[in-house]
Amino acid sequence: MSRIVVVSNRVPVPAGNSGHAGGLAVALLGLMQRRGGLWFGWSGAVTDAHAPPAFAQRGAVGYATLDLTEAEHQGYYTGYSNGVLWPMLHALPHLMSFRRQDLDIYRRVNKRFAACLTPLLRSDDRIWVHDYHLMSLPGALRSQGIRNPTGFFLHVPFPAPEAVAVAPGIRGLVQDVLAADLLGFQTSADRDNFAASASDFAGASRTGDHMIELDGRPIRLGVFPAEIAAREFAATAATQVEKEPARLLANSLRDQALLLGIDRLDPTKGLPERLDAFRRVISRRPARSATMLQIAAPSREDVVAYQRLRAEVDSAAGAINSEFGEPDWLPLRLLARPQTRDTVAGFMRLARVGVVTPLRDGMNLVAKEYVAAQDPSDPGVLVLSRFAGAAAQLDSALLVNPHDAEGMAEALHRALDMPLAERQERWQACWDAIAGATPEGWGEDFLRALAPGDLARLPVAGSAQSAAAAGSA
Ligand code: F6P
Repeated sequence: MSRIVVVSNRVPVPAGNSGHAGGLAVALLGLMQRRGGLWFGWSGAVTDAHAPPAFAQRGAVGYATLDLTEAEHQGYYTGYSNGVLWPMLHALPHLMSFRRQDLDIYRRVNKRFAACLTPLLRSDDRIWVHDYHLMSLPGALRSQGIRNPTGFFLHVPFPAPEAVAVAPGIRGLVQDVLAADLLGFQTSADRDNFAASASDFAGASRTGDHMIELDGRPIRLGVFPAEIAAREFAATAATQVEKEPARLLANSLRDQALLLGIDRLDPTKGLPERLDAFRRVISRRPARSATMLQIAAPSREDVVAYQRLRAEVDSAAGAINSEFGEPDWLPLRLLARPQTRDTVAGFMRLARVGVVTPLRDGMNLVAKEYVAAQDPSDPGVLVLSRFAGAAAQLDSALLVNPHDAEGMAEALHRALDMPLAERQERWQACWDAIAGATPEGWGEDFLRALAPGDLARLPVAGSAQSAAAAGSA
């Protein structure tokens, strides 16, 4: 069986320094452990000079990681990936901050990744490249002579060609990524937008829903919505709601309804807009009837837009509390300290309203987690941005436009006042949309599309997506 080689900006090396593994990363590891695998990417460290990749083996999975120099970190990660591609892909072009040298460094780092990965590859490996940091990598690998099946999955949205075109350098990146055999997206809208850009920027022609062609070479396009382990998360939430952090929170609320937001502190998450909506809600409801807990974990603190956002959110939160607070009550609790996933699961089960209102989001797994965490006999209500990828699946949530503060406020009121029967009906429809899927199934589906012949023979455990796909194959 051929190995899976995953390439991503961050690598969840066990006990490493590049952060803990999220649900999708754990799923990828599971797939690699079963088949043998190599995970390649940035170590998370910044050092003075180039060195060969560091290598660690854990069971059937090898980890090869590269340090970045300060200039590479600034140009590739902070500058072009997060200062240009991230805002452009989330349709927030006014937040872009472009410097020509950052684009050059981005491309050089992608080439360096390719050059360092090439000697580690075996002839029958399948390569799976992840996300916007590495759009040039498929092209760079082909330039190194690598012909292995190569897939690319974009975790974030892909807007229409006119919106994409504002990012200097994007034409070349679209051409580079088209060197892959399979391109995966979160939603069909992202896929169709990409196909239009591939045609406008590279002259590719669309030959079917799932296919484009460039210079006679077919390139598959797939939609693979990222999933959570919904049943597992539901069980965690049911356990965690009895544990101390959730009990302390519940006691502090007494009978107030809890509105809950869980986000990275990121301009795409629509936090100022959300606080504006909450301010309108709280101004029209009796004091002590509802409280909002917003966890906004700091992120990408080197990027100026993120520093400004922190000041803006802190100030808006302070203004809400000073205007509407009482000596014994503050309507808004804003926490910058991230909480563990388990703690958050318990908080989600307590919350009457899950507030997930990004301006734009590739998927947003918090929305799915909020649904999974609910008590089916007394579920809360998900208020969800229609511009999150999750809205394509969770269309029984209360869908809102995050740019319309008054509309969002109305939805929050409606959620707070919603009768049990409607809450149950909406929750059931949302649950049905996510209950059968798993992150492992998401990964299996992508790999099957990357190498159909090979993977069709593999037994797949416990995945509704994969079972359905296998049944229809
Ligand atoms: O959603 C995109 C993403 O890059 C995730 O993969 C990651 O967990 C998150 O944003 C945090 O970003 P960073 O790796 O820049 O800290």
